[in-house]
Amino acid sequence: MSNYGRLDVTFTHGSGVRLYDDAGREYLDALCGIAVCGLGHAHPDVARALAEQAARLVHTSNLYRIERQERLAEKLAALTGLERSFFCNSGAEANEAALKIARKHGHQQGIERPVVIAMNGSFHGRTMAALSATGNPKVHAGFTPLLDGFLHVPYDDVDAVGAAAARADVVAVMVDPRLGEGGVGVPQPRYLAALRKLCDDRGLLLMVDEVQTGMGRTGRWFGFQHDDIVPDVVTLAKGLGNGVPIGACLARGAAAEVLGPGTHGSTFGGNPLVAAAALAVIEVIERDDLVARAATLGKRMLTAFRDRLGALAGVREVRGHGLMLGIVLEQPCADLVKQALAAGLLINVTADRVVRLLPPLIMSDAEADAIVDRVSTLIEQFLAGPA
Ligand SMILES: Cc1ncc(COP(=O)(O)O)c(C=O)c1O
Repeated sequence: MSNYGRLDVTFTHGSGVRLYDDAGREYLDALCGIAVCGLGHAHPDVARALAEQAARLVHTSNLYRIERQERLAEKLAALTGLERSFFCNSGAEANEAALKIARKHGHQQGIERPVVIAMNGSFHGRTMAALSATGNPKVHAGFTPLLDGFLHVPYDDVDAVGAAAARADVVAVMVDPRLGEGGVGVPQPRYLAALRKLCDDRGLLLMVDEVQTGMGRTGRWFGFQHDDIVPDVVTLAKGLGNGVPIGACLARGAAAEVLGPGTHGSTFGGNPLVAAAALAVIEVIERDDLVARAATLGKRMLTAFRDRLGALAGVREVRGHGLMLGIVLEQPCADLVKQALAAGLLINVTADRVVRLLPPLIMSDAEADAIVDRVSTLIEQFLAGPA
């Protein structure tokens, strides 16, 4: 189907931050499969874990205990403070699980038509409930009727959430710690802490979508940890499997007790193969101290971009957190993606005019500097216009 506007390039292999196409050309990957391959391409520890697990046992279904999945759940509980996990295959599915938890939690409190507050500019996935939660009319277009039970308010506006939460049928607040698709938005410090307090005061579930921000990307294991809070529900995918499809919906307290046997499921979710990959990802991040490394590299790149582009006419802002970086231009700049590719560089443009970079956590300083230099040169040339 033609649902993807694909670029005309085929990659055959990769190594670290580098990709190679079928003509043998080398590229620097500053996008890593849209925040997925945080450990870069063909990471030896992940490759070994996958090969060993594939040779032993790939799949049995969730009708039986899965030792690797149990270990992964324990590991994620220790990292997040959320004691229960449900495993699935993507970010959208993780959010579907979160939204089903919110609704059932509402029903358990006698609310017949539970409502979830979500944010304008958010992105939660393409399945119907995740799409309905997503605060972007562009991705809704053509797919109405959306599901009932969502109220959208501006991002980074706690008062707006407070006003919307005055309704008695509101059961949960769903939020991205940093906006990804919505333009690499960084909210005010303590935004999530204020939402946590509001949810505590009103008896609402705080559900944080860490699909893009999780697994060290923002310089903490999870974006919510910048505000020293623990949400009730956290969703993960992308960086969790370094390219192997795995998602997770984690919960604690009352939210962790909502889904009983037979209420939700996934045939593949958390099977031995994907769980082995995720365990290897976590081991490598811990062993190589990559969360701190993401913070250091992120600061280095943000500073370098600001120094080089901050005062350039046509650049509105350079922003980001950790290795989630956005250069906001005054004009639409989707063409930059193709120009970058021609120059041997993978980048993304989101929200029409935001050059978005999501490079891997395993970069050397020199590789990070090379990305800054090449992206800056491209933007300078783009803003200077045709020679
Ligand atoms: C914050 C966030 N949530 C959910 C999703 C959906 O994830 P998936 O494409 O794996 O369904 C994405 C994907 O970009 C995302 O960035």
